[in-house]
Amino acid sequence: MTAPATAALEVRGLSAAYGPVTALDGVDVTVERDRITAVLGANGAGKSTLLRTISGLVPSRAGEVLVGGVDHTRSPAERIARAGVAHVPEGRGVITELTVDENLRLGALLGATRRRTDRSLDEVYTMFPPLAERRRRSCDTLSGGERQMLVIGRALLCGPDVLLLDEPSLGLARGWPGRSSACCASSWAAPA
Ligand SMILES: Nc1ncnc2c1ncn2[C@@H]1O[C@H](COP(=O)(O)OP(=O)(O)OP(=O)(O)O)[C@@H](O)[C@H]1O
Ligand SMILES: [Mg+2]
Repeated sequence: MTAPATAALEVRGLSAAYGPVTALDGVDVTVERDRITAVLGANGAGKSTLLRTISGLVPSRAGEVLVGGVDHTRSPAERIARAGVAHVPEGRGVITELTVDENLRLGALLGATRRRTDRSLDEVYTMFPPLAERRRRSCDTLSGGERQMLVIGRALLCGPDVLLLDEPSLGLARGWPGRSSACCASSWAAPA
């Protein structure tokens, strides 16, 4: 009998709070490898907090977070990133003083330290042609949707095993959300 495959991400009974405000209360989520899992909920339901708690930006009050079967419940954010979790928060955090190319290279730096150098800048430029046309431009000249493409591309260059996208379609024109999700799910599946 073969053992069941380890989930890419397993969240069990996760709770988190901001001072007296409980934002997560006993949340369970299992993300299988090479799958897209969507978390839906009303404004204020705790979706962003769930992603922040998984990536170590908000401390958990109870529960567990396993990445590839390894317990990272109390790991600092940097160790969780090195374990293969890339988090694209809502709000398009690009470094505006740098060019498009320089921002993407920052993602590739972490990918290189994780020995995932087989993913290249050119693949991101093929996925998002508007970025290729603007690769030498300073990021403060990008539109909102172009910034969203940039932060998704930068996260992909980290070579993640788990990609957490908060509001991934925000600001993207019709056609792009489906296209970028398909790219993230298929062409960027982690190398064997
Ligand atoms: N920094 C913070 N300090 C205090 N309370 C916060 C903070 N961030 C979020 N909250 C509260 O935690 C709860 C969950 O917020 P969260 O941002 O996770 O919701 P969300 O599901 O992502 O909402 P939205 O769909 O509007 O993005 C809300 O009640 C919110 O007001
Ligand atoms: Mg949110």
